[in-house]
Amino acid sequence: MAIRKEEIPARRCRLPALNHPISFVGAGPGAPDLLTLRAADRIRRAEVLIWTDSLVCPDIAALANDDCLRIRTSRLTLEEVIPQLIQHQKAGLQVVRLHDGDTALYSAINEQICALNDENIPVEVVPGVSAYQAAAAGLGSELTIPGLVQTIVLSRAGGRTGVPECEQLHHLASLRASLCLYLSARHVEEVQATLLEHYPAETPVAVGHRVSWPDQLLEIVPLNKMAEFTDQHELIRTTLYVISPALSKASKRSRLYSPDHDHLFRPKR
Ligand SMILES: C[S@@+](CC[C@H](N)C(=O)[O-])C[C@H]1O[C@@H](n2cnc3c(N)ncnc32)[C@H](O)[C@@H]1O
Repeated sequence: MAIRKEEIPARRCRLPALNHPISFVGAGPGAPDLLTLRAADRIRRAEVLIWTDSLVCPDIAALANDDCLRIRTSRLTLEEVIPQLIQHQKAGLQVVRLHDGDTALYSAINEQICALNDENIPVEVVPGVSAYQAAAAGLGSELTIPGLVQTIVLSRAGGRTGVPECEQLHHLASLRASLCLYLSARHVEEVQATLLEHYPAETPVAVGHRVSWPDQLLEIVPLNKMAEFTDQHELIRTTLYVISPALSKASKRSRLYSPDHDHLFRPKR
């Protein structure tokens, strides 16, 4: 007997659309209104949302439709995540893999995308606002001040997974740039000691915990109090440090808007 189309549940009605991509989406630091428009669109259209629940603010996952299948990844291995991505994509569903912050930083999207490439499954990547940007914005700060600091370094303390020798903290600290340290709260004593070999003790350090979440903590302390402050507030996870002379709010103007600096858009008058 022929089945009439309207008798088939909406999802089963679809033909597997093997060419539609899995979306890897950067969820931003936490506040839903810091999502990009594209990220918000993908989350709202998701039929399967595979999300990093250990780091992504639940307010973001809540933006998906009620009937979206939500899968938390905090207890899963890569070997368990990949089949979920493949299975739902092959069933023709809109699959979103949601990571915190920006996808370019410590998101582990690379190993997932490589595995999907092996299966010829297309992906798209939607960037997000990273924690360091949210922290700087939350403090009303620019991290590149003319004549003071012109470089931003994004890195992490070695810890269990380590960093290559040429990127060890003492090398990075010797630049005295604006240094944003992710994933480093567990090693803060060691981090502070290394940084003090290069930056003055009073260098401002922004300590951000759950920046842009409803319970955000975001304060500036001198470098020699960085570990004490972290300990006092029992910060271990979702904590970012920005060590930067720029946070001292020294008033220095840029050449860009100087009357004696002409350029293509403002030629000599
Ligand atoms: C696995 S990394 C991912 C970083 C993320 N892709 C990004 O661009 O922000 C997780 C680390 O990012 C930092 N982080 C992420 N979101 C944060 C937030 N809202 N506030 C403070 N730190 C955050 C913390 O250092 C945390 O341990």
